[in-house]
Amino acid sequence: MHNSGMIIEVKDLAKTYPGGVEAVRGVTFDVKEGEFFGFLGPNGAGKTTTMNMLVNLVKKTSGTIKIDGFDVEHQPAEVYKRVGFAMQEIGLDETATAREMLELHGRLYHLPTKRIQEQIAKLLKLVELEKVADRYASTYSGGMRRRLDLALSLIHEPRVLFLDEPTQGLDPHARQLIWNHLRDLNRRGMTVFLTTHFMEEAETLCERIAIMDQGQIVTHGTVPELLAKHNAKNLEEVFLSTTGSSLADEEVNTKASDPYVRGRR
Ligand SMILES: Nc1ncnc2c1ncn2[C@@H]1O[C@H](COP(=O)(O)OP(=O)(O)OP(=O)(O)O)[C@@H](O)[C@H]1O
Ligand SMILES: [Mg+2]
Repeated sequence: MHNSGMIIEVKDLAKTYPGGVEAVRGVTFDVKEGEFFGFLGPNGAGKTTTMNMLVNLVKKTSGTIKIDGFDVEHQPAEVYKRVGFAMQEIGLDETATAREMLELHGRLYHLPTKRIQEQIAKLLKLVELEKVADRYASTYSGGMRRRLDLALSLIHEPRVLFLDEPTQGLDPHARQLIWNHLRDLNRRGMTVFLTTHFMEEAETLCERIAIMDQGQIVTHGTVPELLAKHNAKNLEEVFLSTTGSSLADEEVNTKASDPYVRGRR
């Protein structure tokens, strides 16, 4: 670890998409090595955009991002070695099997063949995909896809794991499985950066939480700190009072302003 003790350092980060949507408007935060960090906010707040910039999938408009001391813009190769990510829009190769995709990922990270085989066995078991490991991805259910995506992100045992709504669409059993596993990985030192719409998930897993709304961080802290600061009984109350949005409002706003509404989830 480099000497600041912070594995993620984000300063004045902003993103304006072509066409003018200011998705992220000046975001600054740090995540400590080994921390389980939650990133919450209503639909369209800018969570995915922020996370995609952190792993260099989306180009930032301004600001700086460092991962383990390395600048994401200028030293991307150093950053890729250290991060794993499972993103909201899953792009699986439909004509490959889970085992083949895991193998390919392992080779992309230059892992030795023996190590790849060990990791595949371990990860397939972990996400309970052993039985379907040799079927084409085109035959997988939504939950199977999510679990495979998580396994892919873990193949090289990254130092920092970025997960964009990893349990969205999973049944309660699969969700519990993933939670237990993430907790376990985190106990063994992996930093986890997670977005979720499940307050229970955030409360259970995350040591520190930032809530984002309209491209900015509106509050942050540990759960007890947030409850005290916002005089709230639970995280949901904090969420509602800081973002001032109910789910019903979001529906209306999205429909009124978003030309891509049909293409989004
Ligand atoms: N590729 C894009 N081009 C233009 N605008 C975009 C693009 N991707 C996202 N946006 C816009 O940027 C804003 C933030 O979107 P983003 O996906 O980051 O939100 P989010 O917090 O992840 O939301 P959700 O909870 O729905 O996943 C929204 O207004 C969205 O419409
Ligand atoms: Mg998102």
